[in-house]
Amino acid sequence: MSEPPQTQAPATPTPANPTPANPVPATPVPPNKVPATQTIDWEERFREGTTRWERPALHPAFVDWQENGALAPCRILVPGAGRSTEPMALAEAGFNVTVVDASPTAIATQRARLERVHMTARVELADLFAWRPPTPFDAVYDQACLCALPPKLWPDYAARLGSWLRPGGHLFILFMQTGKPDGPPFHCDVAAMRKLFDATHWDWPDTLSAIVPHPSGVGAEQPAVLRRR
Ligand SMILES: C[S@@+](CC[C@H](N)C(=O)[O-])C[C@H]1O[C@@H](n2cnc3c(N)ncnc32)[C@H](O)[C@@H]1O
Repeated sequence: MSEPPQTQAPATPTPANPTPANPVPATPVPPNKVPATQTIDWEERFREGTTRWERPALHPAFVDWQENGALAPCRILVPGAGRSTEPMALAEAGFNVTVVDASPTAIATQRARLERVHMTARVELADLFAWRPPTPFDAVYDQACLCALPPKLWPDYAARLGSWLRPGGHLFILFMQTGKPDGPPFHCDVAAMRKLFDATHWDWPDTLSAIVPHPSGVGAEQPAVLRRR
């Protein structure tokens, strides 16, 4: 009588003991590790539904900018768009929209929403610190992205914002005001923002419009339109 075939558990590959069938992964990524370019596990937050930053309607400053013509159809990037509805509003208004976010759930939501209304837009799953557009944009709309990033990466992010815009292009941004040292959202002190987006690289308006309270009650946002020199 022949022995039944034996099933053998594959040897666990280790750097000291790789097997041809199970090579050691080149860069093992521990599960649930949040990359250094993110402050929290945003994907988990979307999956859990703990997304207090999400607005029930379009941002009032965004609506004002559209109504007063500051935000007119052009090639626009929405970094860290999450599941916000501004990208679809832009696409519907005739903008050529690119959305970038590191959360698969947020990206899937943006894609599905745009497809439902037969709108075309580039929707990319990527880390903003490892992403480059093929050509610079006319405008960038940053809603709760800067304040969500690790503050030590803000100089890098500000430089990237500049590189994503053509000279003369505009950054439409909402500087979160919380008055608190921790985050996210992190407090974007306006004096500090003037240094971050300095006059060598950016033109600031003479006056800033009124700050807009955030519906979550967490803070308020200072709208600003900066022109890339
Ligand atoms: C506070 S949420 C804001 C989402 C959206 N803009 C809104 O107003 O609802 C921050 C967003 O930035 C994304 N994000 C954070 N760090 C990122 C990174 N390094 N690269 C790409 N996206 C990032 C998160 O996935 C999340 O969707």
